[in-house]
Amino acid sequence: MTAPALEAIALNKRFGGLQAADNVTLAVQPGEIRGLIGPNGAGKTTLVNLVTGVYQADSGTVKLAGQDLTNLPMHEIARRGLVRSFQVTRLFGSLTVRENLHTAFLARRSPDSGDGAARLEQMLDLTSLRPLADTAAKKLSGGQRALLQMGCGFMVPGSCYVLDEPFSGINPVIKDAIIEMILTVNRTAGATFLIVSHEMAIVRRLCPTVTVMMEGRVAAHGSLEEVARLPEVIAGYLGKALE
Ligand SMILES: Nc1ncnc2c1ncn2[C@@H]1O[C@H](COP(=O)(O)OP(=O)(O)O)[C@@H](O)[C@H]1O
Ligand SMILES: [Mg+2]
Repeated sequence: MTAPALEAIALNKRFGGLQAADNVTLAVQPGEIRGLIGPNGAGKTTLVNLVTGVYQADSGTVKLAGQDLTNLPMHEIARRGLVRSFQVTRLFGSLTVRENLHTAFLARRSPDSGDGAARLEQMLDLTSLRPLADTAAKKLSGGQRALLQMGCGFMVPGSCYVLDEPFSGINPVIKDAIIEMILTVNRTAGATFLIVSHEMAIVRRLCPTVTVMMEGRVAAHGSLEEVARLPEVIAGYLGKALE
C-alpha cells in the first residue's frame, strides 16, 4: 500500500494551560484535496504550523510520503516537498508579474527543482496573468495581486501544499480562479492539498473529504454531508456555519 502523502500521528502541542493540538492524527492520501474545518480557535492553524515546522510538537510524528519530518526545520520540510503557501506572499511592486514569479521560485528552490522556467510559464497561464507578464505588480488590481500571490506560492515545487484560509478577503470572481488553480495543480502535478477554510460552499466543491477539528482534537472525518449529520459537529460548529 502507498504511504499517505501527509500523515500526522498523535500530535500534541500545548500553549501554557491550553492543549491546542490534542493527540491529532490524520492521513491525507496522495492526490487528495482534504478540507480542514472547525470553529475559530479549534487548532487548525496550530496543526498547519506543526506539520510545516513553524511550531515544534511536544510529541507525535509528521510524515511526508512515509518519511519522518517531525521537528525538522521549516526550510528542510519545504525542501522535501511539503509547502505551506501563505496568502500574503510578499510581492515586489516595482518588479513585473514574471519577475515576481521568478523571485518566488529563487527564494524557495532546492537543488533538484530545476530552473523553474516551465513552471513559470504554467503559472502565467494558471493565473491568467500572461497578458500582464511584463507589468509591474503595483499596477495590478487587488484581485490580480491575489492571483499572483497564489501563483508565487505554487512556484515552490511541492508534492503537498498546505493552505490556511486561502480564500479569506478575496472577491468571488478571484475565488473561482483560485479554486481552478488548485484543481489544475492537483490534476496536472498530482499534488496533494490540505486546505483550511470556513467557506463551506468552497469546501464542498474542492474537498471530497473533510477533517473537523474542535478544541484541539479531530472531532470528525468524512464527506461534508456525512460530518454535517453528526450531532456533536452540528452543535459545536456546523449548524452555524451551514446556515
Ligand atoms: N503561538 C501561540 N501561543 C499561544 N497560544 C496560541 C498560539 N497559537 C495558537 N494559540 C491558541 O491555540 C488555540 C488554537 O488556535 P489556532 O490553531 O489558531 O485555531 P484556528 O486556526 O482553528 O482558529 C487558540 O486558543 C489560540 O489562541
Ligand atoms: Mg486559523
